Amino acid sequence: MIQLEKLSKTYASGVEALRDLSLEIMEGEIFGFLGSNGAGKSTTIKILTTLSRPTSGTFSIAGIDPQNNPTKIRETIGYVAQEAGVDYFLTGRENLTLQGRLYHLPKPLILQRVEELLDLFDLQEVSDSMVSTYSGGMQRKLDIATSLVHHPKVLFLDEPTLGLDPRSRLILWDYIRKLNQNFGMTIFMSTHYLEEAEKLAGRIGIIDGGELKVIGTPEKLKSEIGADSINFVCESAQRREEQAEKWNLFKFKPYIDRLVFDRNEVRMYVRNGKDALLKAMSDTDALKLDVETISFSRASLDDVFLKYTGKSLENKKEESESEPWWKKWQKSGQGNDDWKKWQKDEKGNGPEKEAEESQTENGSCESSQKDKIASSGITGTEGNASSPEWGDWKSGKWTEAEMKQWWANKSKAK
Ligand SMILES: Nc1ncnc2c1ncn2[C@@H]1O[C@H](COP(=O)(O)OP(=O)(O)OP(=O)(O)O)[C@@H](O)[C@H]1O
Ligand SMILES: [Mg+2]
Repeated sequence: MIQLEKLSKTYASGVEALRDLSLEIMEGEIFGFLGSNGAGKSTTIKILTTLSRPTSGTFSIAGIDPQNNPTKIRETIGYVAQEAGVDYFLTGRENLTLQGRLYHLPKPLILQRVEELLDLFDLQEVSDSMVSTYSGGMQRKLDIATSLVHHPKVLFLDEPTLGLDPRSRLILWDYIRKLNQNFGMTIFMSTHYLEEAEKLAGRIGIIDGGELKVIGTPEKLKSEIGADSINFVCESAQRREEQAEKWNLFKFKPYIDRLVFDRNEVRMYVRNGKDALLKAMSDTDALKLDVETISFSRASLDDVFLKYTGKSLENKKEESESEPWWKKWQKSGQGNDDWKKWQKDEKGNGPEKEAEESQTENGSCESSQKDKIASSGITGTEGNASSPEWGDWKSGKWTEAEMKQWWANKSKAK
């Protein structure tokens, strides 16, 4: 279904993000693209979704060559970017409708698909609330739903559950499974969550430094490691370093197949777990090695990752909740509380009223979702001619920096 032949990408800055990536994804499979930060996952997905050009190499999706027919590829695929692609100032229903319009679907079909998707993702109840009032999990569900309005055959998900809490993550996994099982959708999903790759993907590809290191089913990859592991955790990486000479002696122990040092940890891969554990404990004791904790485990996907990349993903600090730009902006002290007028309260009262008030106050209106919808031509409502700031910004006449400056001046004036 998806074929990549020696894809390489070097950005103008000189960063070599991908190197000779060759892959084949079968129809109807969920493929997990596993890699740490900066490994090249998003770059690959951007190329496959025709948003970025490879420096060299070729690819095809459903037999379509992007050079001859990029539009056809875009009709065949759905794409959920790493950063949320939904519009916070529209409702869920409006976001879906807008997407249908962008794909030039006929209006009756849009209405039908919007309802289907709201049902599929259990979003009916909040469908008429503004997205800025949604939880992170709900926003991500809507984000995926918007990528499905045109019924794509292939879905690209770039870190679909990044920053979500474990419960929301589980819920989202169910939806992804449903798309694959009920609709036979081929899914190409990047992630750096081991559990996500293991639970969802039929096959996994590990990418590191722009290179594909290994590919296979989670079971096959784990069985190739073929070993139990004993993990010694030292107080600190420095303490482990200080005793490096003694730790290195374990390289010569016959009961150890492989020894890996990773920051403050020493991992020993062994064949006969129980016997090896007793011997290793007795040897660390005899060598007077400082150990904080010892754990024993069967081979995991993290062991596979560690073997092929030299790094562990499990110890990685969780990324902070990815917040929408307007929240970060608000926190940075700009705009004061003005952003709140874009949120609806529990009763559904919100921006329209505030915007009207704002208009009578100073003769201009920052934002109204109705204006925005009107300018997209979806509802047929008249656009508000006296909303130059928002309208200009949307139409690209204002840059984000100019908009921020405008807010800053406005706040000072208050
Ligand atoms: N537009 C760009 N211009 C220059 N360099 C870029 C650009 N986009 C990505 N890179 C670089 O290319 C490399 C791969 O980045 P990419 O975003 O593909 O990684 P990733 O695996 O998606 O990482 P993450 O898990 O952090 O999202 C990184 O070194 C990154 O800094
Ligand atoms: Mg990325």
